[in-house]
Amino acid sequence: MERAKTDKVNNELYHALGERWYHAKDDPVALLRAEKKLLVPWAIEAIAKHNTNSSSKVLDVGCGAGFFSNPLSSIGHNVTAFDISKESLEIARQYDKTKRVNYLLADAYDFPFSDKTFDVVCAMDFLEHVDRPEVVISEISRVLRPNGIFFFSTFSQNWLAWLIVIKGVEWFVKNTPKNLHVLDLFIKPSKLQQILSTHNLTVEQILGIRPCFFTKAFFQMLLTKVVPDTFSFTFTKSLLIGYGGMAVKTNRL
Ligand SMILES: C[S@@+](CC[C@H](N)C(=O)[O-])C[C@H]1O[C@@H](n2cnc3c(N)ncnc32)[C@H](O)[C@@H]1O
Repeated sequence: MERAKTDKVNNELYHALGERWYHAKDDPVALLRAEKKLLVPWAIEAIAKHNTNSSSKVLDVGCGAGFFSNPLSSIGHNVTAFDISKESLEIARQYDKTKRVNYLLADAYDFPFSDKTFDVVCAMDFLEHVDRPEVVISEISRVLRPNGIFFFSTFSQNWLAWLIVIKGVEWFVKNTPKNLHVLDLFIKPSKLQQILSTHNLTVEQILGIRPCFFTKAFFQMLLTKVVPDTFSFTFTKSLLIGYGGMAVKTNRL
């Protein structure tokens, strides 16, 4: 299968991470893991509030090594997950204790699923990795059932996000590759909301996400360029750096 080509962001780096997905601290992937400690419980609670059924049909788009899919499967959801990186999918499968996640090699520009298949779709830390997020969102909307929910997290497009998410990570985390992120692909919350609304997805919740600054772990990272296990993220009102949210598929045709 030919891999999708983006001429800017570096999506190749994920193929080579291997076990580092789960263990490296001298790598920005440690930040992705730390952020999931905030986002996974938030999404689990939101799904429970929204769906009466304790087992929802969940799709994880650009699932990487399964940081979202595996915990959702372990609490009983019926999870399908896909990524363009077959190497990352191998790691995701290894760490799936339930052995029930359906991990697939696929491209987010062309979902291999029928319309209205899923109760929940997640695209975590993903939309800033594709050149045409509107195409991916149109696919997400197509495969969501009416009243189904979409979880997203991404970065805002402004100088502060550039400074913290791009430059800060380059300066203060070892082994940060060139073009891990590019400002061009960051999305202003207002723009994302507009794309979602065009595709019948109504935003019900949107929250800022940022690292916990001025903690011991934060300063340890600045000094050593290694991300301690205790490094953490928090929700915040400001949508200026990272943000995440939940949208509901409306019944409009
Ligand atoms: C930053 S990682 C996020 C992984 C996961 N969602 C998480 O939050 O841990 C971005 C992922 O998007 C995948 N990706 C990039 N372009 C893709 C595409 N067109 N289709 C599917 N996956 C893609 C990469 O291989 C990588 O695993």
